[in-house]
Amino acid sequence: MAQYVAAIDQGTTSTRCMIFSHSGEVVAVDQKEHKQIFPRAGWVEHDPEEVWTNTREVTAGALAKADLHAPDIAAVGITNQRETSVVWEKSTGKPVYNAIVWQDTRTDKICQDLGALGGGQERYRSKVGLPLATYFSGPKIRWILDNVEGARARAEAGELLFGNMDTWVLWNMTGGPDGGVHVTDPTNASRTLLMDLSTLDWDPEICAEVGVPMSMLPEIRSSSEEYGKVRERGALAGVTISGILGDQQAATFGQACLTPGEAKNTYGTGNFVLLNTGTEKVMSDNGLLTTVCYKIGSNDTVYALEGAIAVTGSLVQWVRDNLGMIATAADIETDAKSVEDNGGCYFVPAFSGLFAPYWRSDARGAIVGLTRFVNRGHLARAVLEATAYQTREVIEAMNADSGVPLKSLKVDGGMVVNETLMQFQADLLDVPVIRPVVNETTALGAAYAAGLAVGFWASEDDIRNNWAQDKQWNPAMDEATREKLYAGWKKAVTRTFDWVE
Ligand code: G3P
Repeated sequence: MAQYVAAIDQGTTSTRCMIFSHSGEVVAVDQKEHKQIFPRAGWVEHDPEEVWTNTREVTAGALAKADLHAPDIAAVGITNQRETSVVWEKSTGKPVYNAIVWQDTRTDKICQDLGALGGGQERYRSKVGLPLATYFSGPKIRWILDNVEGARARAEAGELLFGNMDTWVLWNMTGGPDGGVHVTDPTNASRTLLMDLSTLDWDPEICAEVGVPMSMLPEIRSSSEEYGKVRERGALAGVTISGILGDQQAATFGQACLTPGEAKNTYGTGNFVLLNTGTEKVMSDNGLLTTVCYKIGSNDTVYALEGAIAVTGSLVQWVRDNLGMIATAADIETDAKSVEDNGGCYFVPAFSGLFAPYWRSDARGAIVGLTRFVNRGHLARAVLEATAYQTREVIEAMNADSGVPLKSLKVDGGMVVNETLMQFQADLLDVPVIRPVVNETTALGAAYAAGLAVGFWASEDDIRNNWAQDKQWNPAMDEATREKLYAGWKKAVTRTFDWVE
């Protein structure tokens, strides 16, 4: 009998395959980065074919590392960077354009024009839970159809397909042009601006307004059920694919935030705080997103409130790659520890405008508070602190929306190895910050969704039982310092507005 479940995590910077045991331990990992393509300021693209090649390579790589073969794997789950949009030819599998990444701001004009039809940024919120913003997929599809020659006519003739990265990977894994399964799950669909949150169906009126023919959209199925099998190509040939969750929802599931009121914060390229609100859709008055958290088979849909922050870990990458100030991401902590505080310096990384709670596509990044006193240590500290301040802003919004202040925060993702940041986060929120033993909660969540569908795990209780705490940071900062620092940040944020028409 198969002893393991595999997860493919198609993220913003890399694609990984991870193999998990029944107790949720990581048995093997393989990972490959893909190119970040920046054709113009504010534009971000990925090459879908490179991502698919990497997916196959890391799948074979992970199995080889653990000396496992397809019959050892009970099921495969897919998790993915959300919103990133691909349009491809049904008959050949060729993308008509690069994938437009969630961080890309080129659809600003499309969003403004849609808002001008009435209701502005809030035009669709009551149905889809989201503000009209460049972040989401619908306007990205519209841009491709408007700008690639012949694309709109071909889409209307049924020759083109749309997918987020989950759908692109699933379609290719299950056969591509020779019969690929064209399916997504409600967590991904709820990030397109095109899905009705109550019915979990595409909304015909919104699709028509945004300009997306419904024939190109994937079928929306649950997050945990059998979608198909891996076709004869590749290392996992014949294995059932039975889980799809957008990466932030997958991390929420993998963190066992399965009860209303439980929340997690993933520190990745960006930061994403998700609060499980159970079967209730809580509409935000404070700039958060209402989104599907998961839908397991025929169980009721579980919703979440989300605070999405565009730039956190990617700021550290930017300091490394664009400034050359550090050699590795870990060096940021070494530099930050060389000083006691930020020296008055704040770095607001509004590289893709500002997401929650502001939704300002006109914002651009700013470093403020500079004096001759400020050195590289202070700058490093400002880089790290930016992540914690942004997190506090979305937690405050969450507390206001839910009326129940958060008592502790479960964390995961790449940056949670940074002890300085974790302590500062606890200080700034004034609640404990808790890291689990298995920090790979995104891939684990997708594995759970897949494993539940095939009976590898019996119920959500298995997920709760597998979760274990690794470390907790307790708040240790006095209130006056905390509030002074935060007030400085709030002021800095106002300096980033009105940079783009
Ligand atoms: O919404 C964007 C998010 O899903 C990206 O996550 O971890 O790939 O940067 P990540």
